[in-house]
Amino acid sequence: MFSLEGKVAIVTGASRGIGRALALGYAEAGADVAVAARNQADLDAVAAEIRSRGRRSLAVPTDVTDRSQIKTLIDRTVEELGPLDILVNNAGGTRFMTPIVSLRPDGWDKALRLNLDSVFHATQLGAQKMLESDGGSIIQIASVAGIEGAQGLSFYSAAKGAVRLMTQAVAKELAESGVRVNTIAPGWIATDLNAVMWQDESTRRTMEQMIPMGRLGRPEEIVGPAIFLASDASSFVTGTTLVVDGGQIA
Ligand SMILES: NC(=O)c1ccc[n+]([C@@H]2O[C@H](COP(=O)([O-])OP(=O)(O)OC[C@H]3O[C@@H](n4cnc5c(N)ncnc54)[C@H](OP(=O)(O)O)[C@@H]3O)[C@@H](O)[C@H]2O)c1
Repeated sequence: MFSLEGKVAIVTGASRGIGRALALGYAEAGADVAVAARNQADLDAVAAEIRSRGRRSLAVPTDVTDRSQIKTLIDRTVEELGPLDILVNNAGGTRFMTPIVSLRPDGWDKALRLNLDSVFHATQLGAQKMLESDGGSIIQIASVAGIEGAQGLSFYSAAKGAVRLMTQAVAKELAESGVRVNTIAPGWIATDLNAVMWQDESTRRTMEQMIPMGRLGRPEEIVGPAIFLASDASSFVTGTTLVVDGGQIA
């Protein structure tokens, strides 16, 4: 019931970190995978790794802050790989932290465009395609920062919390149609995104003290939860948030 054999998936932000792990994990579970991010060379490398696992892949350079590029990604995937079964909205993140009193309005706009608006556009366009076929599974990669407020990251908490609630609303709208929509909320996962923090010994120790399991997660540890939500194993699961954080917000 965890097999993705014969399914077609799109993973955004698939060239590094969590998205790359998900794209490769889906291929190992049997799916053909279209990968999206801005840098073509990085994407081509991931697409080659997917093909080396015996699956079809498509590398589509995409800036998810541009609706027309998301539309091209989805249209090309359906044309070249077949009807869309799984969409993972993973591209996102933030490279800055600042308290609200010094946050520049354009910083707010930029963070919301990347972490919230992009998820609206992709969810709408992806759901439209899934409704034309046999349904499907849409998975948002949000964050524990969208469940608890994260200091210095008000804009990121706002965006990720909004993704989570939008997803719950959309899950109800689409529940009878065969399109399921769920959220994964990772805690600290060691990737390039937060490398400046975990590569510094004392900052890393502070982060580890926040996590009952006493360590940061690895990108591969998001794969199992994402296969669960993409596969028939979760056929009665929609509108939920699966927290993957080593116990941090328990
Ligand atoms: N790492 C964590 O601790 C953590 C915790 C909770 C939630 N998350 C969430 O998990 C997701 C992935 O995080 P990560 O740590 O794997 O990040 P990462 O290592 O920085 O990778 C980000 C990926 O997204 C792509 N990307 C960035 N901006 C994009 C854009 N405008 N359009 C298309 N693709 C874009 C990047 O490729 P290009 O630069 O080539 O576009 C890259 O493939 C994010 O949504 C993040 O908020 C991460």
